[in-house]
Formats: sequence, C-alpha cells, structure tokens
Amino acid sequence: MNPLNSNVYNVIQLSDCHLFANEKRKLLGLNTDYSLSLVLDQIQKEQLDIDLILITGDLSGDGSIDSYQRIKRKFDVLKTPVYWAKGNHDKINPTKQILKDDNYISFYLINFDPWHIIMLDSTISGKDFGEISMDDLEFLNRSLKVINNSYVIVCLHHPPIQMPNKWPNNQVINNSDKFFEVIDCYNNIKIITWGHTHRAFEGNRKGINLFSAPSTCVQYRLKNGKFVVDDQLPGYRWFELFEDGSMKSGVSRIQK
Ligand SMILES: [Fe+2]
Repeated sequence: MNPLNSNVYNVIQLSDCHLFANEKRKLLGLNTDYSLSLVLDQIQKEQLDIDLILITGDLSGDGSIDSYQRIKRKFDVLKTPVYWAKGNHDKINPTKQILKDDNYISFYLINFDPWHIIMLDSTISGKDFGEISMDDLEFLNRSLKVINNSYVIVCLHHPPIQMPNKWPNNQVINNSDKFFEVIDCYNNIKIITWGHTHRAFEGNRKGINLFSAPSTCVQYRLKNGKFVVDDQLPGYRWFELFEDGSMKSGVSRIQK
C-alpha cells in the first residue's frame, strides 16, 4: 500500500527484458542487461512503495539459465513480490528451476483483495504468435466465476487485439475471438494488459482498459509494414489501483 494513501495499491508492469546468457550481448544495438538495470534504478527512484511487480514475458532473450539467474538477482534487490507470465522467448524449465516457487509462472490467480490478477500463458512452443490454450481459457472462465465480486486485471504476453497502425496479425493471439467470448461474459474486468510489442499502448474495449507496457530494452515501431527500432527509451508501466475499482496508469521511461 502507498504510505501516503492507504486506499491505493501500486503495481508495476515490466516487459520484454530479453536478457541473454552473455551479459554483454545486445539486441539491435542495445545492451539489454544494462537497460534493465537502468529501468530498475528508475523504479527505485520514482516508486515509494510497490505492492507487486508483474512481468509480462520475454524475461530472457535466449532461454538460458544464466539469463534467468541474473534476472532473479536484479529483482531480488527490490524485495517486492514478482509475478511472471511466459513470453515466446522464455523456456519453462530454466524459468522454473531458477525462479522457483517464491515466484510464479503463468497461468495462475493472484488474490489482491479487492483486486484479483489473472496471469495467462499466451505462448505456443516454437512460435512467435500467440494463442490461449483451452486449459488457459477454462482457467480464465473458472477464475472469473469465482471472483465475480472482485475487480480484475488479466495479463498475458501477446496482444489480444490488433494494435494500431496495422501491426502484423501474427503478433496477436490467433484465437482472440475465444478469449473475448469468455471476457465478455463478465463485467468486473477492469484492465487487460500485455507486452511483446515493445511499445506502450492505451485503449478501451467495451469499457475495459487495454494497455501494453514498453520493453525494458529496445522499442519498436512500424515503418512500411516492417519493424524498426524506435527512438523512445526503455521504461515501465505503473498502475494505481483504488479500493472502489477505479485505477490510473502511466508509463515512465529512463532519462537520457
Ligand atoms: Fe515476445
């Protein structure tokens, strides 16, 4: 809880850290290890009291044990509960081996009364595009039935909607119709948020706030239908969650 306002929960979303086994390795010219450290420094300077950190996938860029070990060391410093959703570059065995059971890998439900957070796995082994499995869809529906008196955040790695400016369809989960069939049965979902796009986004669908978080490393934009590196700096998304179900959100980026 925020010490200045006991009715607010402070939740931080980070995404797409893409750490590699070799800590000197760069992604499109940017050292991902260094940029994650800068983002975490920025969070420590700006956020007085964090209740929870959500990471929406692609913690690792190569699925290596070394990358998860360094991620764990960096986040341990924050002494805050950290929850992870799996991204298309993550590998489940090293993730579970290193992050162990004091952290969690999607899918699961976080009780944050009066809020609940549902973390889904939108990845398909060996593919860049996403899909919500039948197991995850059933889990989503079952969870939403049980927590129908809570305010709900749904987190996943891939966008469930087409992003603006004609982002390629293969970046979106390919069964978004099934996903929204479940979502549309409930009226207590306040936020759906994701990563993967390396780009901050805010939107709305039938009263639900839609977000994506910037990457903690390289940002992307589209040019003539192709991804190019954007000159926006790495950053994170913050949420303030109020007890009456209202919320605020914004993005903060590292300084040059
Ligand atoms: Fe991704």
